[in-house]
Amino acid sequence: MMQNWREVYASKLTTAQEAVKHIPNGSRVFFGHGANEPMGLTDALVENYEQYKDVEICHWVPMGKGEYTKPEMKGHFNYNGLFLGPATRASVQEGRADYTPFYFHQSPRFFNDGTFPIDVALVTLTPPDEHGFCSFGVSVGGTKPAALSAKMIIAQINDQMPRTMGDSFIHVSKLTYAVELSQPLPELGGGRIGPVEEAIGRNIAELVEDGSTLQLGIGTIPDAVLRFLGDKKNLGIHSEMFSDGVVDLYEKGVITGAAKTLDKGKMVAAFLLGSKKLYQFVNNNPDVMMLPVDYVNNPVIIAQQNQMVSINSCLQVDFNGQVNSESMGVNQFSGIGGQLDYVRGASMCPNGKSILAMPSTAKKGTISRIVPVFEAGTTVTTTRTDVHYIVTEYGAVNLRGKSLRERARLLISIAHPNFRDELWAAYHERYGKEG
Ligand code: COA
Repeated sequence: MMQNWREVYASKLTTAQEAVKHIPNGSRVFFGHGANEPMGLTDALVENYEQYKDVEICHWVPMGKGEYTKPEMKGHFNYNGLFLGPATRASVQEGRADYTPFYFHQSPRFFNDGTFPIDVALVTLTPPDEHGFCSFGVSVGGTKPAALSAKMIIAQINDQMPRTMGDSFIHVSKLTYAVELSQPLPELGGGRIGPVEEAIGRNIAELVEDGSTLQLGIGTIPDAVLRFLGDKKNLGIHSEMFSDGVVDLYEKGVITGAAKTLDKGKMVAAFLLGSKKLYQFVNNNPDVMMLPVDYVNNPVIIAQQNQMVSINSCLQVDFNGQVNSESMGVNQFSGIGGQLDYVRGASMCPNGKSILAMPSTAKKGTISRIVPVFEAGTTVTTTRTDVHYIVTEYGAVNLRGKSLRERARLLISIAHPNFRDELWAAYHERYGKEG
């Protein structure tokens, strides 16, 4: 492309402290998603918080410290979460910050059409290759579109970011400032897989047929499912994200992508979160294609895959089959992420299945997650019209095509036995003794 890219790159190099000084007051600043958060830049921003007035900070899954949400930084920084996590949740629940819902697959459009414009993108990139291209590494899906739409891109050039393939590159000429800073990437440890998660994993694995294309959501349950897929054949991956478990199945020859309709033989993802093992696996690996979310999460694309099976977690299900995956009553807990993108894509796929799974109880077994009605203010993430399979440790039920009474009866059959009597009482109160 450009003969003198090295000179161009050198002209953009600066320090983190200098680079963040250029962020204007009143601007909307986007942080690279998940393990793409450029900690060297976000730390510099936080250290100098008193310099700023009304800078809005937005991002999806937070993997950093979330210090910009502290009460004393309010007014300097205003946090607007696109997906909440432990570091940012309290600020929204305590009313100091906000949350904005939109479908993950629509975000590139919204960044560009004025719905949700980005002024400054702070991202992590690999060092440039011999042609002057840097890779967004483990987070391309929403991060690259946000960066390309921004008026200013400040990049932390981190030689510990794996160089991933796909539509993952940006030329150094597009950067506004570049800060070379080597840092380990944040890692996501797998949650503890106990007997409940194992039983859920087994129940889901029974629904996965040879040749299926899988999407796996975030968390312990998707990891548990992977343990029980070892005897399947020719599975494929077309998934918003994936983690370490997928690497084991690829190495065992279970994931081949040979039966995929689109991107045959490739594992397609928008972002990756896991341990060093995962980050090493994807480095320069042509079998892994990192692509933007308007492709990876687009229900119309997802629907074209062979035997698309989407597997996500949820918090609660009511008698009608409405699914809450993101709030505790009125309190926002996480976000919609790609859940409905995949539920709808898998539903439109003629031989597809969408699976939503949860342990039957929460709060150490003291409450049932299958409930007659939601508490007022609870978010419905997946509507009763979209829902397909619901799985707990007590089994899997298919709610599609079922009446409201049938749904309630099926859901009670997979509730925890300690709560079945009270759920039946609520059922009879609603539908009468003969219902
Ligand atoms: N009432 C009260 N507390 C509840 C509850 C309920 N109905 N359901 C869960 N909890 C508690 C749990 O007990 C747990 O608390 P603990 O950590 O003290 O034990 C906590 O809330 C988290 O629940 P858990 O089920 O362990 O959550 P998770 O980490 O597995 O995440 C989702 C589950 C649904 C929040 C998460 O998958 C999500 O945000 N999904 C939406 C987005 C999505 O699906 N994206 C997919 C594409 S990547």
